[in-house]
Amino acid sequence: KKSQAWSALFSEPMSELVKRYTSSVTFDKRLWRADIEGSLAHAEMLAAQGIISAQDLEDIQRGMAQIHAEIKAGTFEWKLDLEDVHLNIEARLTTLVGDAGKRLHTGRSRNDQVATDVRLWLRDEIDATAALLDDMQRALVHVAAQNVEVILPGFTHLQVAQPVSFAHHLLAYVEMFSRDAERLADLRKRVNRLPLGAAALAGTSYPLDRERVARTLGFEGVCQNSLDAVSDRDFAIEFTSFATLVMVHVSRLAEEIVVWMSQNFGFINLSDRYCTGSSIMPQKRNPDVAELARGKSGRVVGHLMGLITLMKGQPLAYNKDNQEDKEPLFDTVDTVKDTLRIMAEMIGGEVAADGSRAGGLSVKQDAMERAARRGYATATDLADYLVKKGLPFRDAHEVVAHAVKTSIALGQDLSELPLATLQGFDARIASDVFEVLSLTGSLNARNVLGGTAPVQVRAQIARHRARLG
Ligand code: ARG
Repeated sequence: KKSQAWSALFSEPMSELVKRYTSSVTFDKRLWRADIEGSLAHAEMLAAQGIISAQDLEDIQRGMAQIHAEIKAGTFEWKLDLEDVHLNIEARLTTLVGDAGKRLHTGRSRNDQVATDVRLWLRDEIDATAALLDDMQRALVHVAAQNVEVILPGFTHLQVAQPVSFAHHLLAYVEMFSRDAERLADLRKRVNRLPLGAAALAGTSYPLDRERVARTLGFEGVCQNSLDAVSDRDFAIEFTSFATLVMVHVSRLAEEIVVWMSQNFGFINLSDRYCTGSSIMPQKRNPDVAELARGKSGRVVGHLMGLITLMKGQPLAYNKDNQEDKEPLFDTVDTVKDTLRIMAEMIGGEVAADGSRAGGLSVKQDAMERAARRGYATATDLADYLVKKGLPFRDAHEVVAHAVKTSIALGQDLSELPLATLQGFDARIASDVFEVLSLTGSLNARNVLGGTAPVQVRAQIARHRARLG
């Protein structure tokens, strides 16, 4: 009895070890919907071109409908002997409908079939990921909108630099995620092209209508070179590279959440439902979700390296190496989707059907502002003030450095020094300096496009809301 699609040539069965080593059905069965969809589009085209009969097509459609139902119900029997998802489904089809099942593979190879399946599958996942990226941005914009006037120290080198609006800080991440969304929309165009018709590598001698199959499957175009169509996995690499950047952005945000949650900052609190305790230290509430998100960025970076290395140096056309594209790609998709979902929820709260939000991170405004008042965050404002009174900037910088030195010695903020003391640094200083040295004065002054002044921050929020709906 034939146990493999090619077995007439073979005089001995495949070793058990090789069977386990080479089969992919345990993980690529995940492509079953795409595999059936692709086969049905191929079969319809074969019938339309007169390559198979209308009866064959009907049989194939009936068989596939049953297979679809069996897989969905969990009654389909996946066989390791049949290597992969493609051969499993085709074998079952032939069992169910006979010769029509055997005709399905006319003008097709598993090489163009698998490339088609992965692209179809990934296209859906791209759309789901795009929606989650939007949700993430909405969550951040939501929290930002409530915190425009909340001020925290902005850092460079993790040293207090200048006061910024907490909303402004969060909106920086919205910019990052919006660029990720642009990248995703752009790479989707290259994922969404049809390999089918390339057959094994050289095209096929049957009069296939590839454009028709592309239309049926919703592809925007047809891969124009059969050797390239079956062999490159750059579309998977591109997605993983996109996902790597998302995860790198997430990891930065996650790191900040962990830091903000630390008692030494105490800037935010997370709902209990997103924290875990300790089995030994009764006082602990740990931001595990953020830590794990930060950690999971590592595996996606790893998958990118894996896929790039997998592709490197492969001669044309298809090589079995490419079967190794699936696990990293699947795990990348799962990781980026799960991470976006949970982080968006932890930050912006759970969204109810009516659009209302519950939970989400809570902001400790007092702690943020207390921290912003430590570390002389408004020193630049004092220098700018002196520049406006006629002092060259470099001289103003020097004057303020002296003022800060004195303040440190006195253990006071610049704004706490008496006017007479300030005037001792430069006679141009007048009582209007105190507004300049205040946190709100500092923020309001940065009224440049993209700056942290509340009026600018509100403009950013309006722009994002218009864009995100
Ligand atoms: N399971 C294979 C893969 O994932 C399908 C293509 C196999 N083609 C072949 N000539 N062995 O790449």
